[in-house]
Amino acid sequence: MKIAVLGTGVTKFGEIWEKSLADLAKEAARQALDDANIEISDIDAIFIANMLAGEIENQVHLGSLIGEELGFNGPAIRIEGACASGGMAVRNAVLSLLSGEYRRILVIGVEKMTDYQSDQIGEALMAAADEEERVAGLTFPSLFALMAKVYMDKYKIKRSDLAQVSVKNHFHASLNPKAQFPFQITIEQVLQSPMVADPLHLFDCSPISDGASALVLANMNYVSQVYPCPATIIASAQSSDTLSLTKRKDLTRLISVEKAAKKAYQTASIGPKDIDFVEVHDCFTIAEIMALEALGFYQQGEGWQGAVKKETYLEGKLPVNLSGGLKAFGHPVGATGVKQVVEIADQLRDRAGKRQTSKARIGLAENIGGAGGSAVIHILTN
Ligand code: COA
Repeated sequence: MKIAVLGTGVTKFGEIWEKSLADLAKEAARQALDDANIEISDIDAIFIANMLAGEIENQVHLGSLIGEELGFNGPAIRIEGACASGGMAVRNAVLSLLSGEYRRILVIGVEKMTDYQSDQIGEALMAAADEEERVAGLTFPSLFALMAKVYMDKYKIKRSDLAQVSVKNHFHASLNPKAQFPFQITIEQVLQSPMVADPLHLFDCSPISDGASALVLANMNYVSQVYPCPATIIASAQSSDTLSLTKRKDLTRLISVEKAAKKAYQTASIGPKDIDFVEVHDCFTIAEIMALEALGFYQQGEGWQGAVKKETYLEGKLPVNLSGGLKAFGHPVGATGVKQVVEIADQLRDRAGKRQTSKARIGLAENIGGAGGSAVIHILTN
């Protein structure tokens, strides 16, 4: 598999009240098209990742809406898979390009969340969860809190070990001007921030965000010889797990991520040791720890050591979430999976500014939906 990343774009993430969903999508798309040095008329299809526009804005026809904004009359579709919508849109674009049907696809991830109260958004997000858990009053912070509790009991880790993940991701975000929270925090600040769902504090949680991200992807057969194209997708894999946490045998493992990772490594003919840097789905601090284990970077029960030993920092042996992650870059859910691939491609193209890693040779993006009911993995190289 070899799919070229011709262009990338990402808006500032955060509370962007002055821009609509369509404005944000257009801004990211224009950046990606300009970066690829092509016009919208050179695009064969648009794939749009979004989760909540139907739930909260009564608008599900994003293909036509955003196509109109961009002056595009070709096929344009929306792809929804909860917080993994972005990864799924990238993956379906990759598969469509490999089929030969399209030459170039514009992938856009977009979400507009901050116009609504946090409890409205929390309720809308629970459309991605099991009905029993929803009617019992659980939310995503409380579902991940259950996972964190079991993990902490099983592996005897402290709250401060969780907090280290957030401190690290805020440090990376402080080097990224487009991040929602571009500032550093301390462990004490995490531990003293308001409790959201025991043991997760406010600073253990990704925020509610607006934002958009975009990629121009191309089948290598249609990439001109002279086109400088240092980033390519060499593996794309997706897997699933039960929607309900009650049906899982072990709450400390992300089986969907384990399965998708296995397939992605097989496709790329590499293993975890070959990966130089990673963007993982740290919707809550515990999720980053479990992802690092499911991806094979750490043994079960040891993923928390990454941030504690500073191995997952910019200068560490495996930089994780150089963008700032979902925690500090922000998490406009449909935009996140696309943004992760944007970050990997930008690092590979040596364009990540102050957070540029010297290790940028092979990068991996891990995007999950809900509490790991879906997982999508992409591996890129230059
Ligand atoms: N991290 C850091 N700061 C945060 C934050 C977060 N996750 N969420 C909000 N804040 C800040 C706000 O910027 C605001 O700061 P200010 O007073 O300086 O302006 C303050 O905290 C209060 O913000 P508010 O929006 O009132 O917070 P809230 O209590 O309504 O919401 C959460 C906080 C954690 C409940 C909300 O961010 C949330 O639900 N996050 C999880 C989203 C989610 O589940 N995503 C899907 C994952 S699977």
